[in-house]
Amino acid sequence: MRIVLVGAGYVGLVSGACFADFGHVVTCVDNDAAKIDALRAGRIPIYEPGLDELVEKNLAEERLNFSTDLKAAMADAEAVFIAVGTPSRRGDGHADLSHVYTVAREIARSIDDFVVVATKSTVPVGTGDAVERIIRETNPDADFAVVSNPEFLREGAAITDFKRPDRIVIGTDDERARVVMGEVYRPLYLNQAPLLFTARRTSELIKYAANAFLAMKITFINEIADLCEATGADVQEVARGIGLDNRIGSKFLHAGPGYGGSCFPKDTQALVVTAQDAATPLRLVETTIAVNDTRKRAMARKVTAACGGKVLGKTIAVLGLTFKPNTDDMREAPAVSIVRALQDAGARVHAYDPAGMDQARQLLDDVVFAASAYDCAEGADALVIVTEWDAFRALDFKRLAEIMRGRIVVDLRNIYQPEEIERHGFVYASIGRTNAQSRSAYVLRETEAEEVPAGAAGE
Ligand code: UGA
Repeated sequence: MRIVLVGAGYVGLVSGACFADFGHVVTCVDNDAAKIDALRAGRIPIYEPGLDELVEKNLAEERLNFSTDLKAAMADAEAVFIAVGTPSRRGDGHADLSHVYTVAREIARSIDDFVVVATKSTVPVGTGDAVERIIRETNPDADFAVVSNPEFLREGAAITDFKRPDRIVIGTDDERARVVMGEVYRPLYLNQAPLLFTARRTSELIKYAANAFLAMKITFINEIADLCEATGADVQEVARGIGLDNRIGSKFLHAGPGYGGSCFPKDTQALVVTAQDAATPLRLVETTIAVNDTRKRAMARKVTAACGGKVLGKTIAVLGLTFKPNTDDMREAPAVSIVRALQDAGARVHAYDPAGMDQARQLLDDVVFAASAYDCAEGADALVIVTEWDAFRALDFKRLAEIMRGRIVVDLRNIYQPEEIERHGFVYASIGRTNAQSRSAYVLRETEAEEVPAGAAGE
């Protein structure tokens, strides 16, 4: 099949490379000529494990092409995917659809024969109708069907997610489009990936509901972690204890410094405003956003508390800056709020990240960027693990004890067991876990009903 992806960003590139790897002939189109030139030369603008090899292989086998010419790319194409960004519109939280609409017009002008126009960008419910209207108005003779086909891939695991999806959602009621989309995903269907056909608006909402639910799940376990700390329980055991219930499931129950990234923050916000406009406010999602926002800076207070209530004049070594490991993406990363709050409180911050330093330099001022984890820890009063990169999972604490000035470790991702660190003379703080000393601080207040009337006791 011939497929076009418009937008050679994260979703467009990963999807294009994976479609090509299935055997389709794919052209990724972008209006950024410098980016297209770089891609043709095999240079990938984003950090995603395995993507460079996949692009290189499919370029060499001539199934993957890059172009700025949409009209030429669309000749003979059976499907064209819109994969441009939908950032938060400044000021009101709605998704900014201007790129999607611009691309819809450009596609309209390039349609010759029947083509499926599939939206992969995350777009609010009803956008497919608007795209259809725009194409019809721009090119009244065009033969096309607009389909919603949301993407569920995670940064850092995007290729595996694309090739082994939990499900593929296709929103359309057009029979011809169903056949084309079935063909596009046939290689995955043969791998038993469920293909879920729905109405277009339903499909658009599935994407937002999925991200909002996951954001809520993380936020729930983060609040339970706070309660664990206050009551002497262990959040990791609570997460395991509830996660083994199949109705709950064990994933996305890892307590931490709050979710970040390019998706959860903007998508929850966009869903909330859509729901408000539809006069059906989503209070749970509104609260999730508020709780997550306050959590990021609260993490800086946790570091301060671990440092004895004051970080003024102290040197804090921050390990991990990206919003999660295996990406260089710093968007909405908890590290940004944490570093700024620590600086506001008078701390000097040293930082190291295996991939996010270039992006972090643009966001953070007055930070000493180090060349390695140990370089970062040199002379520090406290070490804070903000992102759980594999490279931080087996730190040499004997060496850290020699090079650090202080003996404090704050592990905001619970990648260590307290005993492992405490053995080396460190004071260790983590998320939702307590030591014997703090456990003794909480005692259940015993209350009893004053008087139980006869016959009222028992069920
Ligand atoms: C998320 C979704 O997981 C994808 O399914 C979706 O396709 C994507 O958004 C999108 O809409 O494009 P992503 O933002 O790449 O993917 O990252 P996640 O792995 O979901 O992590 C998001 C944030 O939640 C990170 O800051 C991570 O550290 C945090 N998180 C995740 C936790 O704090 N605890 C967890 O248990 C899981």
